[in-house]
Amino acid sequence: MSFDAPRSTWSSRWAFILVTIGSAVGLGNIWRFPYMTGAQGGSAFVLVYLLCVALVGLPLLMAEILIGRRGRGNPVSAMLKVAEENGASPWWGALGWVGVLGALLILAYYSVVAGWIVEYTYQAIAGVRILTPEAAKQGFADLQANPLRLIFWHTVFLALTVGVVARGVLSGIERANLLLMPALFVILLFLVLWGGMVGDMRTAWHFMFDFKPELLTGQVVLSAMGHAFFSLSLGMGAIMAYGSYLDKRASIAHNCFWIALMDTLVGLLVGLAIFSLTFAHGLEANSGPGLVFHTLPLVFTHMPGGRVVGSLFFLLVLFAAWTSAISLVEPFVAWATERLGVHRAAAAWGTGAAVWLLGVAVCLSFNDWSGFKLFGLNLFDQVDYLTSRILMPLSGLAIALFVGWIMSRKNAQDEIRLPAAQFQLWRQVLRYVTILAIVLIFVYRLANPDS
Ligand code: TRP
Repeated sequence: MSFDAPRSTWSSRWAFILVTIGSAVGLGNIWRFPYMTGAQGGSAFVLVYLLCVALVGLPLLMAEILIGRRGRGNPVSAMLKVAEENGASPWWGALGWVGVLGALLILAYYSVVAGWIVEYTYQAIAGVRILTPEAAKQGFADLQANPLRLIFWHTVFLALTVGVVARGVLSGIERANLLLMPALFVILLFLVLWGGMVGDMRTAWHFMFDFKPELLTGQVVLSAMGHAFFSLSLGMGAIMAYGSYLDKRASIAHNCFWIALMDTLVGLLVGLAIFSLTFAHGLEANSGPGLVFHTLPLVFTHMPGGRVVGSLFFLLVLFAAWTSAISLVEPFVAWATERLGVHRAAAAWGTGAAVWLLGVAVCLSFNDWSGFKLFGLNLFDQVDYLTSRILMPLSGLAIALFVGWIMSRKNAQDEIRLPAAQFQLWRQVLRYVTILAIVLIFVYRLANPDS
């Protein structure tokens, strides 16, 4: 057994917070969250979202890190070890597998979308001008219709990601995050300031934060909950793997609090920046997924300092996606190095090759293979559906069941080490509220198959 082999530990508590925020802050925060906020009830949606984070996201984030740190191994070994320690069946190891393999599935389509971002970053820096809404739409459609270009950018992005993981936990993952995340924050603050100066911050504020309770429906609550999962990178082994490198003395609860808070703040700030610029140009903000690819390039072409601002914005998205993708590779690579004894670089590039192949199929699902559909979905949507709609909540549910009901109170408190009342609060929320909330998601979906 390689459980007790010496493993890396993040060099500080800040390093851990930063890499985990790096995992959490990604494409989800930048195009999905702001758009959802605006379109689904403004501050009412933000409130629901915060509630989901507090009652489902944060307790699960803590539980996942707890398992990782207690098991001190890749998600599969960590699950096996904590299961054994608590007298539970080794079948719980399967939960580790769902995380490890699910993360690679997510990566296969995440890397394709991030590839579009690399292309747009390149265009922004090169000063490509997009003059009309039609041209913006056409440009995006042309990209999707071109398999070679999609595959090329997917390859570039995946190589960047795998290259970091190949270098190791400290000199690869930690170092990359320590460079990229501060850069991301600086760019973000600059964009918000710029949005305040040349944009229409007031309208952006109203769009995002006006209280519109009439827009809140079951559907909205559902998407807020789903987004809390996706945004905090829950249920897919990524957080568990990062937690396994956390120093025993660090407080899980405090760190998680900051991670969840920063993740939400980034989404809100990005939203204010994007929308204030968008509204200043009289454009609509509810184009959803098209926001980043249709609307913003147009805005950047027509605004003062647009080339610089546009380049910085796409770099911000790229950095966010990159640090998230890194966290999706690590769980499997940790497993391969620890259990198979494969050299880290070989494990990383081998994993990359497999994900690359699947990603190529995803690229083709937009064009050459677009006729091939299952349940009316192309491969891209299938993988998204399987991971975000099924695997993530299911594995979140299993984690809550394990830590809440199977793991002994003493073992849990040993890792969490909160004052008794706070510990009790966290544990009871996990045991009842979190579990009930996830079960309700599934019930709601069964009752509303179109949701
Ligand atoms: N949280 C990232 C985002 O918001 C996506 C992500 C990274 C992720 N790692 C994950 C999602 C692991 C689920 C599980 O874009």
